[in-house]
Amino acid sequence: MSTQSSATATVTALILAAGAGTRMKSDKPKVVHKVLGTPMIQLVVAAAGDAGCERILTIVGHKKEEVCAVLPPQVECVYQAEQKGTADAVVVAADALKSSTGYLLVMCGDMPLLRPETLRQLIDVCHDRSMAVLTAQVDNPSGYGRIVRDSTGSIAAIVEDKDATSEELAINEVNTGIYCFALDGLFERLAKIDNDNAQGEYYLTDMVKVCHAEGEAVIGLQLAEVEEAHGVNSRLQLSQAGAILRKRINTKWMEQGVSIVSPENTWISPDCELEHDIEILPNTTIVRGTKIKSGSVIGPNTRIEAANIGADCSVEDSIIMQSTIGDRCTIGPYSYVRPNVTLGNEVKVGPSVEIKNSTVGDGSKIPHLTYIGDSILGEKVNVGAGTVTCNYDGIKKSKTIIEDGAFIGSSTMLVAPLTVGKDAVTAAGSIIGEDVPADALALARARQVNKDGWVSKNRTKE
Ligand code: UD1
Ligand code: CA
Repeated sequence: MSTQSSATATVTALILAAGAGTRMKSDKPKVVHKVLGTPMIQLVVAAAGDAGCERILTIVGHKKEEVCAVLPPQVECVYQAEQKGTADAVVVAADALKSSTGYLLVMCGDMPLLRPETLRQLIDVCHDRSMAVLTAQVDNPSGYGRIVRDSTGSIAAIVEDKDATSEELAINEVNTGIYCFALDGLFERLAKIDNDNAQGEYYLTDMVKVCHAEGEAVIGLQLAEVEEAHGVNSRLQLSQAGAILRKRINTKWMEQGVSIVSPENTWISPDCELEHDIEILPNTTIVRGTKIKSGSVIGPNTRIEAANIGADCSVEDSIIMQSTIGDRCTIGPYSYVRPNVTLGNEVKVGPSVEIKNSTVGDGSKIPHLTYIGDSILGEKVNVGAGTVTCNYDGIKKSKTIIEDGAFIGSSTMLVAPLTVGKDAVTAAGSIIGEDVPADALALARARQVNKDGWVSKNRTKE
């Protein structure tokens, strides 16, 4: 038995994810399906890491490449060629675990709602024991392993649904499938498990009997909040997991001073950071590590992905991806900010403006109907409605530079590569294909001709 205390001992996590997840009816492996924009196995990995696990291993089998592809680089993948049961899945990791001491936290890749605090508690109750199991009291226990306790209250067995007597089937305390084991002696005990059961599988749950036979009490930690054990086996359960996580995350941000007008219609992924006094309007999705500073109003109908938004901004009916927005910017409605955009402070990006791979200096305005690509705009630049940076000639992308204070007239075509100098002006409707010096007016359009009386001469009489 382990003599190290679990509080100081190292803990390794083993995430079981070899299964096919057939009930998802998907070409993708189950655990890569997303909950709030995040592959569910990433949520499990994050919980294990936050619970203090120093090493994380994943058992992969079905479509292993696709599972490994979404795992952070520090997670080790162990291949289980044939799924012979949950005990076999742990045995497969024996070699990889040779160098580990302390405790092994066994988790399932399809349980994205477990809190790190709960996992930590389970590790702590395993202190100086061979095994602890996380249990839950549920209304409908069907499908789960039942927790059979002895007269002293310690766990004597876990009986699978398919192997249970009618008396055992009536038990409402179930196995969540999350366990902590002392690594010391674990594989000797696992070797005692056979597959003599209804499914012909090596059940990890039989570790309880092995420990009990050795005179060891197996401790059960009962979940206070059953929804933490919500497993995803179907598309319905996937959407339920998303709803539970959404509610949990929205509640956390509201407690920290964020206003969320319609929490049912606001999706924030767990890796985002929001400051206080942000207001989020309905139908807004904020995902993939987005950070937003205080005082900003986001939404309605907005999607922000992997972006940094400054303080006191307004983003309305817009999409922002992988970009950095300064303070006091106004974006939208209907703006599309594509990856690699950096806006300074007090920048305006207005309706039907698309911008990508560009830098815009403080106080510049791109108020309407414009495309800015591969460009550098200085400070206090004004871009008139309908302007296009013509960055692509069909072969290569070229850069447009617009220096401080320049005024781009409405509907200017800026044919890159091109520099418009400081304070220069382009006339509305110009096609600018050559550099414009600082302080100059560039006019590049045909002179207007008015033909007097043309209309009455040509209009057909009715
Ligand atoms: C298991 C438990 C059951 C518990 C339930 C909770 C056993 C025998 N039963 O049942 O007591 O109530 O979880 O959800 O453990 N896996 C592998 N390799 C294998 C077999 C399974 O990686 O060889 C993975 C699966 O992909 C899945 C997890 O282990 O993520 C659980 O396996 P599964 O067979 O679905 O167990 P359950 O029947 O749900
Ligand atoms: Ca099974």
